[in-house]
Amino acid sequence: MPYTRREILALGAAAGAAILTGARGTLAQSPLVTKPIPASGERIPVVGVGTNRYRSGDPDYVARLRDTLSAFARVGGKVVDTAPSYSDSEDVIGGILRETGIRERLFLATKVDREGADAGRARIEDSFRALGVARVDLFQVHNLRDAGTQLGTLRELKAAGRIRYVGITSSSDRQYEEMEAIMRRETLDFIQVDYAVGNRGAGERLLPLAAERGMAVLANLPFGRGTQFRAVGDRRLPPWAAEIGCASWAQVFLKYVVSHPAVTCAIPGTTRVAHVEDNLGAARGHLPDAGMRRTIEQFFDSIVD
Ligand SMILES: NC(=O)c1ccc[n+]([C@@H]2O[C@H](COP(=O)([O-])OP(=O)(O)OC[C@H]3O[C@@H](n4cnc5c(N)ncnc54)[C@H](OP(=O)(O)O)[C@@H]3O)[C@@H](O)[C@H]2O)c1
Repeated sequence: MPYTRREILALGAAAGAAILTGARGTLAQSPLVTKPIPASGERIPVVGVGTNRYRSGDPDYVARLRDTLSAFARVGGKVVDTAPSYSDSEDVIGGILRETGIRERLFLATKVDREGADAGRARIEDSFRALGVARVDLFQVHNLRDAGTQLGTLRELKAAGRIRYVGITSSSDRQYEEMEAIMRRETLDFIQVDYAVGNRGAGERLLPLAAERGMAVLANLPFGRGTQFRAVGDRRLPPWAAEIGCASWAQVFLKYVVSHPAVTCAIPGTTRVAHVEDNLGAARGHLPDAGMRRTIEQFFDSIVD
């Protein structure tokens, strides 16, 4: 499919130039690495996008968000994670989907965060309305809130064909024990949890348990809310980064996360076209093996200790 001039500009100068000139650029050439969702076998690219800073107000900012999601879809990205508590992110995304027509190319994930069945149902219907979609790919119980009740509702909606997958989320080790208990007692398609080279706690029990229970994993906070960029500062990439096809720190951080055997997809938050392009670059080429994962850990530990 040809690229429009606007999309080429949105992809950033280097990638756009590669497409315009027909050069053998990474974007046009190598396919995105995908992993299967255990519950269905459906494959999704290993890097998605988080939208917790998507909001309306400034038209220039909203235009930037539209360009960011358009570029994400254009390069083959699928998983877009949002939540009703991320300001009016769902409304902004709904508007972008209407304007750009990219909904069918995406895998939309949102959340429910209410106590009680009635409040949960109302909140879920608000999400459908805000996103302007008939079907949501993944609905998750946000931070485990009233998980027993909300999972019951989500399963009804799944049976009715309005939701394709159900899951639970957390981003705090204070909830890991409760998360583990829910994972042991419930049948879940997905869990979402914080996991990054600078925050490896979920790797101890939750990630192995997800693999054992056949649950897909979305990894949130893969950059530690951006703190990992501050940790590396202006350090140059070590020579081993090239061995795993990484041209930026973002790609090192993301390849670390998605090379965990239990992680299905990382969802780095970004509001910028250049960063989407950078992040999707981590879903190309080969992923670190166990030895390289240890090298990345040791390097990161040595600069933060
Ligand atoms: N409990 C939960 O369910 C839960 C909790 C937290 C987060 N989440 C989900 O996880 C997503 C990710 O979390 P997060 O956004 O807070 O943290 P993050 O992904 O660890 O870091 C995001 C930060 O990194 C920057 N960034 C992104 N790509 C970059 C790149 N290539 N180079 C340099 N900087 C880059 C972003 O700024 P720019 O905008 O400038 O790119 C932003 O400041 C959220 O959007 C949300 O969907 C879920």
